[in-house]
Amino acid sequence: MFYHESFQTVKGTIQWDHPMYKLYEKAKKQGKWNPADIDFSQDQEDFQRLSDGEKIASLPLVAGFSAGEEAVTLDILPMINAMARQGRLEDTMFLTTFLHDEAKHAEMFSRWQQAVGVGDMDLSVFHNDSYKRIFYEALPESMNRLNTDDSPEAVIRAATVYNMIVEGTLAESGYYAFRQIFKKAGLFPGILQGIDYLNMDEGRHIQFGIYTIQRLVAGNDVHYKVFIDYMDELWEHAFGYVEYLVSLGEQQKRMLASKRMLEVDYDMLKNYAVKQFHIRKKQIDRAKKYDSIDELEKALTEVES
Ligand SMILES: [Fe+2]
Ligand SMILES: [Fe+2]
Repeated sequence: MFYHESFQTVKGTIQWDHPMYKLYEKAKKQGKWNPADIDFSQDQEDFQRLSDGEKIASLPLVAGFSAGEEAVTLDILPMINAMARQGRLEDTMFLTTFLHDEAKHAEMFSRWQQAVGVGDMDLSVFHNDSYKRIFYEALPESMNRLNTDDSPEAVIRAATVYNMIVEGTLAESGYYAFRQIFKKAGLFPGILQGIDYLNMDEGRHIQFGIYTIQRLVAGNDVHYKVFIDYMDELWEHAFGYVEYLVSLGEQQKRMLASKRMLEVDYDMLKNYAVKQFHIRKKQIDRAKKYDSIDELEKALTEVES
């Protein structure tokens, strides 16, 4: 239980130029899409026309996303709670849109599964140990820690697994894979439209993670090390999952040798994931040149305006 000592909007106003407030404004404008409006009828036809092998081949990515979106919907609350407890009004306001976005993402995949007729199929067979380590364990573990501990270390670890690994590395690579596989094959226009919306939403989510970690590592080598060490620890599992998806794809490709509907460059997918991981590290690295949170926030505000 905590008590309020004062209120920001009574003493003054919302900080309109706060990076997280600006993100909140952006979310209100961009976040108007409705998963229920997406037309999956062509996806349904496309799916029916696929051979049994191709049907199976199209599901591992969806299985990763469905559980992933459900996990991030269920696991974001401790972060909202922690920001609220710390009196971070602008961050909390932005996070209200964040949770709504994730709920829509989970809805979108579930609707697609229902539409193409695999709603009742248990897709968890496509979750390998690496996937489970991240989505079943590390993510809820790090997020739930915030319920009792909102120290910089705990917040950095939560944002690292949630925003930098799950969203910034795996989801971003997943969108890329979706487009490489299905767009090129001329399949599933409905889910591809959904992926475009998700991609836009995730851009904002990742910005929250970058900002949150940056402000905590600015001028603090110990906190920076918490970030780097946890990134490296999680990378083994993140890449383990990417490699597993690639091996499944290559196996299925051999089985479907005569049909080349789902032609994929798997090396490119792997390289893309590696690139995303390094981009995330580099984004946090930038904060090191500032000595304090204030200096970083000032610089961020100047860049934004
Ligand atoms: Fe999402
Ligand atoms: Fe997200």
